[in-house]
Amino acid sequence: MKTRFLVNIVLVVTVVCMPGCKKKTPAPTEPQAKPEAKEARVMSANEESFGKTSEGREVNLYTLTNTNGLRAKITNYGAILVSLEVPDRDGNLADITLGFDALDGYLKMDTYFGATVGRYANRIGKAKFVLDGVEYELAANNGENHLHGGIKGFDKVVWKPEDLWANDNEALLKMSYISEDDEEGYPGNLACTVTYTLTKDDELKINYEAQTDKTTVVNLTNHSYFNLAGQGTGDILGHELTLNADKYTPVDEGLIPTGEIRSVKDSPMDFTLPMSIGSRIKQVGDGYDHNYVLNSGGGALALAARAYEPTSGRIMEIYTTEPGVQLYTGNFLDGSLTGKAGKVYKKHYAFCLETQHFPDSPNKPNFPSVVLHPGQKYTTETVHKFSTR
Ligand code: GAL
Repeated sequence: MKTRFLVNIVLVVTVVCMPGCKKKTPAPTEPQAKPEAKEARVMSANEESFGKTSEGREVNLYTLTNTNGLRAKITNYGAILVSLEVPDRDGNLADITLGFDALDGYLKMDTYFGATVGRYANRIGKAKFVLDGVEYELAANNGENHLHGGIKGFDKVVWKPEDLWANDNEALLKMSYISEDDEEGYPGNLACTVTYTLTKDDELKINYEAQTDKTTVVNLTNHSYFNLAGQGTGDILGHELTLNADKYTPVDEGLIPTGEIRSVKDSPMDFTLPMSIGSRIKQVGDGYDHNYVLNSGGGALALAARAYEPTSGRIMEIYTTEPGVQLYTGNFLDGSLTGKAGKVYKKHYAFCLETQHFPDSPNKPNFPSVVLHPGQKYTTETVHKFSTR
């Protein structure tokens, strides 16, 4: 007679809290019966040192893990997503984001690997804009234009850890940063938070909040470079991409939108049905580097994109409250950077899907507004959901 083993696994809850961070009491856990369970994986949130910045400030590396083994590593330098390990269709984990093994690589980079980008993600033409009749001059760090928040954007500052915990459903890290009035030329003191949450349903959620004491502009995003076959393993031209966008914003030579909102129909920009990224990439110059106008219009959380990598079976879906997404196919990667595990990053070795408001919105009255007034709260959410096929 066969003996049946019933293994009672009590999910262990890991709660780590650093000085000054709020400790939350996790929801009570019921013991769960899991027959023939091999390994008891738990939701966890941990902290370790990641070294010192050039100014000697200590920064940490935080690890969020879920019960299926998904693991996100995040540093509070630049609130950067350092790595994201996700299973393939056979359950094998691979890190699917480009980056560096050590802090030093992040201190030197100009590629924004995994970074939190702000105060204004993407470009602002001629590095200036007018708000309430006042012209603001920003740092010009991309020719005559302003890119990703300027010379020292949110990707190059140390964020303050606020919350780190895990319960049965999710593991969470919240960080804050106060961007001072006139920083990189922007008006108003802006208090921001970014929260990374890894759920038991294989989602990595990123939530941003911001409040200002003077009317300003805000556009925050995450700049992760994805390769669903595994970082550094080759180009992403074979990934199948679907974008829930019938329109995009064409750009000039400086990658500043012309103001037109154009249909993708009958053009290589069309990803309304699943298409391999490489199938028409040669028809778009150096590759894709365009803002798509999402059909949702922004506001409520809605599906923006789905990427599928056929050899591993990994699927990443992106849901967002933002009205746009920048598809960037790593066109400026040229093999001069060596990243994690000694991998060399060549052209098109990754793609970014940066959920956002449209580039140069402060100078484009027909684009959705990016203005934030005192008393208002900026809140956006983007969810990366992983599965396999
Ligand atoms: C992207 C942008 C590209 C390039 C890249 C960073 O967001 O669309 O043009 O600047 O960041 O190398």
